[in-house]
Amino acid sequence: MSLTGTEYDPFSVAFQADPFPVYRWMQDQAPVFHSEKWGWWALSRYDDVRAAATDPDTFLSYEGIDIDDTAKDQSGPGFLPDLDNPRHDQVRRIVQPHFLPRRIAAQDPGIRRVVRDLIGSWPGRSEVDLAQELAWPMPNEVFFDVLGLPSAREEGREQLERWVHELKDRRPDDARLTPVAKAATAGIQDYFVRLLEERRRHPREDLVTRIVQADIDGVRFADEHLRPTSEALGLMMVLFLGGVESTAGLTGTLFKLLAENPDQRALLQRDPALIPAAIEETIRYATPLQLVGRTTAREVTLHGVTIPAGGRVVLVYGAANRDPRHFPDPDVYDVTRGRLRHLGFGAGRHGCPGAPLARREVTIAAEEALPVLGNYALAGAPVRHPTTPGMYVWSHLPLSVRA
Ligand code: HEM
Repeated sequence: MSLTGTEYDPFSVAFQADPFPVYRWMQDQAPVFHSEKWGWWALSRYDDVRAAATDPDTFLSYEGIDIDDTAKDQSGPGFLPDLDNPRHDQVRRIVQPHFLPRRIAAQDPGIRRVVRDLIGSWPGRSEVDLAQELAWPMPNEVFFDVLGLPSAREEGREQLERWVHELKDRRPDDARLTPVAKAATAGIQDYFVRLLEERRRHPREDLVTRIVQADIDGVRFADEHLRPTSEALGLMMVLFLGGVESTAGLTGTLFKLLAENPDQRALLQRDPALIPAAIEETIRYATPLQLVGRTTAREVTLHGVTIPAGGRVVLVYGAANRDPRHFPDPDVYDVTRGRLRHLGFGAGRHGCPGAPLARREVTIAAEEALPVLGNYALAGAPVRHPTTPGMYVWSHLPLSVRA
């Protein structure tokens, strides 16, 4: 392959259209790839990425998991993925109990109700937009409820949903957030300040209340005078971003891949018990969050390349999940692979706490929607959602229904 090293540019639209040949080139030719343009090093082999992800005292997070210059504008203190220890574990303990498998399992009936409601009008229709009609509204509905945000019928909900869509707004080939994204960020922060204050006065059984009431070693977690720079705001922001967008992305990608691979879809339609395995394979094959950033605490030498202390490192989860050294025939989408140790939810200290919830949402969406959609096909080109580079999320996914 005659690719040159400078072609790994996760911000370029040309790269995003098909990153996989570049990933393979990096794995084979430059496993510690140095980007002259951006100044960071990228790891793409499965073993290297897993080792770095599970060594968070060497590969630190304080400079942020997003690798562009603007992401810090949004994250602020308390943004869990950007915290190192000891603060990380202290803050994570505040939210972790809400994501225990037992608690997530209790959400099943509610999730199924949400999904059935959303797809209720589909039978008899010839076309649906899966992104707009299921992938986005499902996690909106489910996660707003977990967090304690207004339900679909309450005031303020419409504005919040608009902000969810606008938060990561970017223009093609440009790493910077647009004024639309900045305005949405300010709007949400302001809203969260008011919401936390409201729950402080009138507690409820929700995550917002837990965040505002939590203390760490006897010290209140939420500032008395909440402001956008308070830790509690950063924590709310990551939950808001993580809880909706990546789940919407995975849901859309699953239905898209099953449209493109009708033989695999037929397997699931014949045996719905395969759906959880298909979801793991989807995360492996088209990893929703393709990359995260870290910063080295000390000099690290790997494959003959030395990364200095303080070096910025990109862990390319999307490449690791397609590494032929770990997954046989990695470019084949095969829902029968069985147990997979992919890196799509990260690993170790920063591994995704929302994974059990995301898995249940997407499983239930597939169980309910696949029988209704039948032998469906793409009815037009899927439209990518403008968001963080390296995230697979869809704004539109038109499908023709063939029950
Ligand atoms: C399909 C859906 C999802 C995907 C693909 C996904 C992916 C990820 C990944 C890869 C990480 C690790 C980041 C790193 O290595 O630094 C992560 C962390 C995180 N995710 Fe998710 N996520 C999803 C759903 C959710 C949901 C539903 C929530 C809601 C709570 C959530 C909240 C978080 C949080 C708070 C972290 C930071 C954890 C920490 O640093 O301790 N995610 N997610």
